[in-house]
Amino acid sequence: MSESKGQFNSNFGFIMATVGSAVGLGNLWGFPYKMGTNGGFAFFILYMIMLFMTGFSIMLAEFVVGRSTGKAPIEAYREMNSKYTIVGYFAVIAAVCLLAFYCTLGGYTMKYFTDNFIAIFNHSGIYAASDTGEFFNSFINNGPNVVLFMAVFMIINLIIVMGGVAGGIEKFTKIAMPALFIMLVIVIIKVLTLDGATAGLTFMFKPNMEAFQGTGWINVLGTAGGQMFFSLSLGMAAIITYGSYLSKKESLVKNAIIVPVADTIVALMAGMAVMPACFAFDIEPSGGPGLLFITLQQVFNDMGSVGPIFGFLLYFLVFIAAITSSISVIEAVVSAVIDSRIKNGKGYNRKVIAVVVCAIEFLLNLPTSLDALGGAGLPQPLGFCWLDFYDLLAEGLLMPFGSLCLSIIVGYGMKMDWMAKEIELEGNKFSGRGYWTACFKVLSPIAMVFILLGQIDGFFGLGIFG
Ligand code: PHE
Repeated sequence: MSESKGQFNSNFGFIMATVGSAVGLGNLWGFPYKMGTNGGFAFFILYMIMLFMTGFSIMLAEFVVGRSTGKAPIEAYREMNSKYTIVGYFAVIAAVCLLAFYCTLGGYTMKYFTDNFIAIFNHSGIYAASDTGEFFNSFINNGPNVVLFMAVFMIINLIIVMGGVAGGIEKFTKIAMPALFIMLVIVIIKVLTLDGATAGLTFMFKPNMEAFQGTGWINVLGTAGGQMFFSLSLGMAAIITYGSYLSKKESLVKNAIIVPVADTIVALMAGMAVMPACFAFDIEPSGGPGLLFITLQQVFNDMGSVGPIFGFLLYFLVFIAAITSSISVIEAVVSAVIDSRIKNGKGYNRKVIAVVVCAIEFLLNLPTSLDALGGAGLPQPLGFCWLDFYDLLAEGLLMPFGSLCLSIIVGYGMKMDWMAKEIELEGNKFSGRGYWTACFKVLSPIAMVFILLGQIDGFFGLGIFG
């Protein structure tokens, strides 16, 4: 049984889905912490420089690759030129690896919003935990529990993706993204009225020019660039796939500006929700899972009887952010499989493919979910825990390397007239063509080399940047 691959019904739906892909765990925990520890506003300036050098342009390039071919990455690159096909494989493999840890983290968010929800009524459980660090550790050491939440997260993803592009993804994100925004505003207002909250804003926004001394700024540039890239969902098949479902009438240039700007605004807002809360309760903001699941829970537990309500709101919005990101990646993998069946003259059933993809991802997530217990008894790959290993492959290597290839392909292989042909369809304008050309030919490749080196440095601690 074959159906049409689908299309977004409206540009608004496309933007909500794409911003939904971009706004994820990267915005809600990575950005505030990295900004705070890398020079505050100085980090933000370097983040913006990276956005102008490569973020906007790779977003535009991925839209063009997707929409001009109407295909997911592997077949899209093949159609451009068969020698580029490998870059499509990089993107799809990156997507598979990303999901292999992202869904486990998605499960964590579900555990936290459900526990906070229950605490609204009985003020016990998570809310009564005297040590939120211990609570977190006992959760991640409870293998069946972690796997259960990961599985439920996966099933919700599956249901949405089985619904198709317009009937599942667009319908869901059109409601979920505005809801996320409203919840974020409510949490920010509450947090900013806490005593001592402004110290958190100072932590985030105070320009700390020490970051620019010596070679430190190169380091920060690598961190900011890597963060920006992950946050925009670039290099992981999702944006090309969503682009392939966009109507030819819509302006790609406009959308390539709107999505990164919206993503950056939400990242800044996330920082304004998270950091002031830590400072108001005199809690040292630490990074990674610790910040999101230990520090913030402590904040809610210290807040008094309204704590569980705000805890529920925050973790529910993090869950929404995570799921609107993971569905974009699952859709990309599903779409790649559909394309390969079409190419081989076979019929396809989207629902069956979605079930198979999710089942495989469930298996790949098992060692990640059981990381705290030694990864399901599997050996630690390269000495990394499974989460870090999958992340190294996806975010550390394939994403930046594939995107470096993409900027070179666009700048030197396909060239600007090829871009223009797709962008200028139906009377749309290729505004700022000089800027985009400079990005593809020079700025973006340079930035991508920095990001790639920064990622490798970060994962292997090579000290390339001193
Ligand atoms: N952008 C998402 C985030 O910030 C992560 C992501 C990366 C989603 C790549 C899809 C593809 O969490």
